Amino acid sequence: MPIHIDTASGHFHLETDHTSYQFVADRLGYLLHLYYGPRITGWTDYLLTYTDRGFSGNPYDCGKDRTYSLDALPQEYPFQGGGDYRSPALVLRDADGAFGCDLRYADYRIEPGLPALEGLPAVYTESDTDCAETLSVLLRDTRLGLDVQLLYGVLPKLDIIVRAVVLENTGEKPLTILKLQSACLDFVSGSFDLLSFSGRHAMERSLDRRTLVPGETRIGSRRGFSSHQFSPFVILADRDCNEDAGQCWSMHFVYSGGFCAEAGLDQFGQTRLQMGIFDEQFSWPLKSGERFTGPEVMLCFSNEGYSTLSHRLHRCIRRHLCRGRYRDMPRPILLNSWEASYFDFTGASILALADNAKALGVDMLVIDDGWFANRRDDFRSLGDWFPNTDKLGCSLHELILEVNRRGLKFGIWMEPEMVSEESALYRMHPDWVLSIPKKAPIRARYQLVLDLSRSDVCDYIYQAVCNVLDQGNVEYLKWDLNRFIADVFSHTTKEQGTVLHRYILGLYGILERLLQRYPALMIEGCAGGGGRFDAGMLYYCPQIWCSDNTDAVDRLRIQYGTSFGFPISTVGSHVSVCPNHQTGRTAPFQTRAYVAMSGSFGYELNPASLSASERSVIPEQLEFFRRFAPLIHNGLYYRLSDPKRDSACAWSFVAEDQSEALVFAVLQEVHGNMPSVYIKLRGLKHGCLYRDSKSGLVYPSDALMSVGLPLPQGLGEYDSVCIHLQVLDRK
Ligand code: GLA
Repeated sequence: MPIHIDTASGHFHLETDHTSYQFVADRLGYLLHLYYGPRITGWTDYLLTYTDRGFSGNPYDCGKDRTYSLDALPQEYPFQGGGDYRSPALVLRDADGAFGCDLRYADYRIEPGLPALEGLPAVYTESDTDCAETLSVLLRDTRLGLDVQLLYGVLPKLDIIVRAVVLENTGEKPLTILKLQSACLDFVSGSFDLLSFSGRHAMERSLDRRTLVPGETRIGSRRGFSSHQFSPFVILADRDCNEDAGQCWSMHFVYSGGFCAEAGLDQFGQTRLQMGIFDEQFSWPLKSGERFTGPEVMLCFSNEGYSTLSHRLHRCIRRHLCRGRYRDMPRPILLNSWEASYFDFTGASILALADNAKALGVDMLVIDDGWFANRRDDFRSLGDWFPNTDKLGCSLHELILEVNRRGLKFGIWMEPEMVSEESALYRMHPDWVLSIPKKAPIRARYQLVLDLSRSDVCDYIYQAVCNVLDQGNVEYLKWDLNRFIADVFSHTTKEQGTVLHRYILGLYGILERLLQRYPALMIEGCAGGGGRFDAGMLYYCPQIWCSDNTDAVDRLRIQYGTSFGFPISTVGSHVSVCPNHQTGRTAPFQTRAYVAMSGSFGYELNPASLSASERSVIPEQLEFFRRFAPLIHNGLYYRLSDPKRDSACAWSFVAEDQSEALVFAVLQEVHGNMPSVYIKLRGLKHGCLYRDSKSGLVYPSDALMSVGLPLPQGLGEYDSVCIHLQVLDRK
């Protein structure tokens, strides 16, 4: 049983195989955080210290005791109004216009399994053998008639705890939620770095590391979606934490809308980490009897550095967040038409692409943007999801049949949340877009955003997508989104502060209905590449197009940053032509393949434009990937270098039983009289020998891990190597 409670003393202990999480409902009924770290026995309330702190107020019921202040004590769910001046998780306005509440412990409940959050994605468990349990702790403000339920789902074998919060107005008067963080972690001591992942379109999730200084560091997205600019995934780490050693804690938001992650260092050197819905343009009325559920945050801790943290997160996301048949099955290797021909194709050229794809051994052809209405450029036609039979020279049904007849699966691109002004849909329903009356809207890629906070708009989108999927045997849908929200105004509500969140609920509702109706369909998420690459979307899409940047060298950095929080199987990655369309850079064909294989593999090019020698190696690349896909997608992923710092970028996949490892390395720079480059391996079995399955050379595992493996001499810039190592039995 992972949840232990000492009812007499009010102590709660959540236990996983390697971690412990403790808090206490104290004598005043406040819920104080105690501990999240390596697994322990016994209680940790000795960590709480009480001192008279100047200018830190005391709850009235302390009487003359000036040593008790919520401004100094670590809290489980800090709220505005308790005299804590650090950043609160909950800010409310009551019917009199006052801010502030007073939450006290009321009750708890333990249930088997994990919490299901209505309308929201959530980590799930399928079997009792996972031994998952959920603790729900009830906090109450009797004056306001407010119940706050803190949910803790514990996955003991995965070392994961998920948190969420449900608010209920049990009083008679309305309340308004102005800020709601889903999880908070307070640390009474320690000196930490915050690791976050920032970027821009075509250059997402670059690792940033900063030492916390007094005050609050806030990152997030005010774009309506999780964004290219910041990932809703952060790590708080000991200053000396690295890949192999040190303590680190992470928060992963299981949500695709705007988010806010805060890391604060207070006047007493205490740290607070929080994650939740972005609070600007958010204001949620909670009328008498109503409930509001905040999205889930996945917590993880490792005291063996980032590698172990990533492994725990990868396992949980792969098996307990991603769903559908492709959760466990090898993903089809696809050829996508976008960089092959952009808008410039016909049905015949698509079938020629299919012929080429089939000849090379690819599994699926994906027709990208441009197949519908009058979509000849990005100025028009979004919203009019009717196949352009003139351009295709046949119906979509016939095209799908032809692709299938060639022995290929068929996939298609759509961007259902968007509309072009130049479209029949917009002419018919100008009020279906998010737009502020009498204000000219902000355009991006010439398009506007449909109002998914409205159920009639969601119904239309759902039906439009079904109509396309019903044209034939469509096995894959690339669900794209090519701009962010700027004008937050829905034409059917007076509560504009609810629109951004209700939009995301509307999106999840459509995706859920589609998955129920088409259980075999694989949806690949996309938002101009990785602009909505988050744990929320992964509940609906087992893979997401990681970046519009297909340059293998830039991808080293993008995929490196992404790997901290996201499993390799979720990373859509394709081989494209050189010079690369985004950067103009040229990298060897083999390097492009190795980088793309370290994800959900595919090609995005016209094979006819490749040289004969490039074409000739594709079947080998496919065979290689098919052979190693189980190891790549289910093995333990190790980052072996930092692509921003080191001359070679290297990474590996090691079988859980350490019997084999697949090591990749790309030389990023060459110099005259170049020193030899050694790659230090990780995760091999100590005291063993490993044999290179190609050269037959044998290496002691501890030497590989302590000194490294020299890269072959004479490699050129961006050349790469891949080495498969197998453990030798010790006889
Ligand atoms: C976005 C996607 C691309 C492609 C185009 C089509 O940018 O990320 O992969 O689908 O849209 O317009």
